[in-house]
Amino acid sequence: MLNIAVFGSGSGSNYQAIAEAIAAGRLNARIACVFSDVKEAFILERARKLGHPAIYLDCAPFKTKLDGEAEARAIELIKQHGGDFIALAGFMRIVKPGLLNAFAGRIVNIHPSLLPAFPGLEAGKQALDAGVKETGCTVHFVDSGIDTGPIIVQRKVPVLPDDTVETLMNRIHAQEHIAYPEALRIVAKGM
Ligand code: GRF
Repeated sequence: MLNIAVFGSGSGSNYQAIAEAIAAGRLNARIACVFSDVKEAFILERARKLGHPAIYLDCAPFKTKLDGEAEARAIELIKQHGGDFIALAGFMRIVKPGLLNAFAGRIVNIHPSLLPAFPGLEAGKQALDAGVKETGCTVHFVDSGIDTGPIIVQRKVPVLPDDTVETLMNRIHAQEHIAYPEALRIVAKGM
């Protein structure tokens, strides 16, 4: 069984989808704890409501990465809560070798495009700007690159002629909520 530490910086709808899959018996896993680098992030609110340890991780002095003291604290806290697996769910920081090595092969991420297309920020806008007819989401293992690493699950959505970034992202989000639990089921089976 996976004991999952979730990391997020925003709404946490993917975390909620994972928690619901567990509660419904569709995923044999446990949420060990939930981290956010944003004190007011809704993901922490959701975690408190669902009764999971909700931890604000002050990542200063760094702005875009999880490194140094905060990284060491995260590793320590994950272990204290019995975590043995990490799911990045809208975590807006780059994870560095300290965490990658502590949980080698046991960190996954979700990204709102069909990787390797449109890595990095604003994947929905990138897809619209590129004029593609189809995009989607990807759950993948995390390596030292940005949105690289072996792909576990992808789900596609159409890009419609009158789409805005918002309508497209809403369509992708709905698929993410299916893809993330599905990917975790696949990973859990292989471990
Ligand atoms: C998702 O679109 C995910 O692909 C990206 O960040 C967003 C997080 O959404 N990495 P939420 O916080 O899970 O609602």
